[in-house]
Amino acid sequence: MAETMIKADNLVKIYKTKETEVLALQGLDLTVEEGELTAIIGNSGSGKSTFLNMIGGLDRPSAGSLFVAGSNLFTMTEKELVLYKRDTVGFVWQNNGRNMLPFLSALENVMLPMHLSSTQKKHDKAMELLELVGMAHKKYSRMNMLSGGEQQRVAIAIALANSPKLLLADEPTGSVDTATANYIFDVFTELNRRGQTILIVTHDTALSKKVKRVVAIRDGKISSERVLKEAYADRLKESGIDWRAEDTQDEYAVLDRVGRLQLPQEMISELGLDDNKVKVFVKDGQIVIARPE
Ligand SMILES: Nc1ncnc2c1ncn2[C@@H]1O[C@H](COP(=O)(O)OP(=O)(O)OP(=O)(O)O)[C@@H](O)[C@H]1O
Ligand SMILES: [Mg+2]
Repeated sequence: MAETMIKADNLVKIYKTKETEVLALQGLDLTVEEGELTAIIGNSGSGKSTFLNMIGGLDRPSAGSLFVAGSNLFTMTEKELVLYKRDTVGFVWQNNGRNMLPFLSALENVMLPMHLSSTQKKHDKAMELLELVGMAHKKYSRMNMLSGGEQQRVAIAIALANSPKLLLADEPTGSVDTATANYIFDVFTELNRRGQTILIVTHDTALSKKVKRVVAIRDGKISSERVLKEAYADRLKESGIDWRAEDTQDEYAVLDRVGRLQLPQEMISELGLDDNKVKVFVKDGQIVIARPE
């Protein structure tokens, strides 16, 4: 049976500064199973990076609960956190400067974080990863000689260096052109096909249409979820599909543990719901939400 990879329950993150408090996550619930490829979308400031940073162990949550691959992110000691970051999660940032050392070669950068027993083993594994991301031919190039898209591909190899259980990527295609974004995205899809669990934040709506599961964050909570229609899931590898134009996913609103629901903003406007009260009733086996008379 697949292991639960991420279990966030009522997760809260508050950033405190001298003047203000920012409630970046406001009771977020999300469960991700082993082997899933999940995308997170949401407006700027909705809490996507905050959530990823909590999962990556880069920052501590304020309240709620968060388990990743069985580890409790609340009770972990600093020492356990160091091991967790090294062995359990791999992280790809949008700003790839954070992932690598500019004056080392691509190969050296991928070997650097490894903790395998011999240099030969590190070398072989690094070459395997560089091949996977299509960068084996540039193995001796210094990072600062590579293009943004090439650096990003090496960054993925670096994140995979220690075979993490979970790969996290925060807008990995944010600063590259469409062709490169597609290429990088295909690398993630292929990794997932091989069993890698991946959580990826993306602004790219075309790319998110190819993902089996897309969760949307609004104001620090999961508001809705889209699931790839079966017809498209089967055809994921076909290049003839116009992912930009087609309606590839079914959209669901998400009910939280205590039965709260966020209605899509468009529906609220469409019904002209300007009061904060709505009528809710069951009719013919369906729950109906209506404007009060
Ligand atoms: N270190 C911090 N200190 C104070 N506030 C922060 C900090 N990091 C994030 N925030 C605030 O928390 C909220 C969520 O930010 P976050 O970076 O998670 O958003 P995001 O969804 O990743 O946005 P974007 O799409 O722009 O990257 C924002 O209001 C942001 O200003
Ligand atoms: Mg962000």
